[in-house]
Amino acid sequence: MKGLVLSGGKGTRLYPLTYTRAKQLIPVANKPVLFRVIEAIQEAGITDIGIVVGDTAPEVMEAVGQGDQWGVSITYIHQEAPLGLAHAVKISRDFLGDERFVMFLGDNVIQGGIKGLVEEFRQSDYNAQIVLTPVKEPQHYGVAELDAKGNIVRLVEKPREPRSNLALVGIYMFDHHIFEAVDNIRPSWRGELEITDAIQWLVDHGYRVRPYIHRGWWIDTGKPIDMLEANNRVLLEMSHQVNGYVDRDSKVDHNVTIEEGAEIINSVIRGPSIIGRNTRVVNAYIGPFTSIYHDCLVEDCEIEHSIVLEHCVIVGIPYRIEDSLIGRHVEIRRSPYKPKAYKLTLGDYSKVGLL
Ligand code: TTP
Repeated sequence: MKGLVLSGGKGTRLYPLTYTRAKQLIPVANKPVLFRVIEAIQEAGITDIGIVVGDTAPEVMEAVGQGDQWGVSITYIHQEAPLGLAHAVKISRDFLGDERFVMFLGDNVIQGGIKGLVEEFRQSDYNAQIVLTPVKEPQHYGVAELDAKGNIVRLVEKPREPRSNLALVGIYMFDHHIFEAVDNIRPSWRGELEITDAIQWLVDHGYRVRPYIHRGWWIDTGKPIDMLEANNRVLLEMSHQVNGYVDRDSKVDHNVTIEEGAEIINSVIRGPSIIGRNTRVVNAYIGPFTSIYHDCLVEDCEIEHSIVLEHCVIVGIPYRIEDSLIGRHVEIRRSPYKPKAYKLTLGDYSKVGLL
């Protein structure tokens, strides 16, 4: 089997972070979501992986390279515009050939990986397998309707009145018949070739599509709140270790990871949380569910339930920072200069919550 990872798209719901960075490269527990996706595919025994890339191709290619660090071989497939998930399949035909493949959205995180479900598909004679999971608000997802025997009847993208609570997880398995489907569907009202329409086409034309119900958690990191949620889940489940320096005056919980070269000075770090490579935490409190990426300085302040990206400087903030997603090279400091006022340089679509 081959792997196909979708890493194009615009990421509008994560503006302003995604103005300047591919959304799939935003880290969850200090590892880009895209790297977690590649690892999951590799763990399922698949080493030939295509990555669909769009405007952010250069930075994705720089971060992932040829796949050597995972022992896989990566082929990049350029999509001229985000014309839909089924369009991404269509343009990947030369890479995929006639092999069965797993398609994984590059911004999805799933508990327990995909080894089991890939194995089931590999050994079955189904033409496709989709992954479904019960959700609270199905109207925000692609939703599957099953009959009494558990067969798929209908798939609807973001239905106003959902007929089930089973959402489509961003992991799909197909054989070559999917190409016939994508050639026979038309763009939806939003101008995209929808994968739900392609799967519906398979169902309507008598191909066998198996629904696999996933019982663990799954997160589509489309919005900032989803990023934080994925960060929480992964921090809770990962095994932690201290590889950096912690001075005698600091208190670090057992479920905290301190990466190499990081320094914790006179600070309290509650877990689960992670402090990145070469980051300094001085006279600070880092609360649970916080990921500070590499090469940051966090001094005289308190941060909890947040993700801070690389090269940030956060110094001398009188109130605790919570529920925040802070981009690269951001500086937040108290200003010694008069007048005593908020002095902000914020990118478009930034959101600031002041006391
Ligand atoms: P989406 O989350 O549906 O789209 P998006 O990334 O453009 O985000 P937003 O809605 O906030 O603007 O995409 C799911 C994944 O698939 C994501 O990793 C991007 C990727 N993708 C492509 O590679 N090509 C496409 O044509 C589309 C629509 C998405």
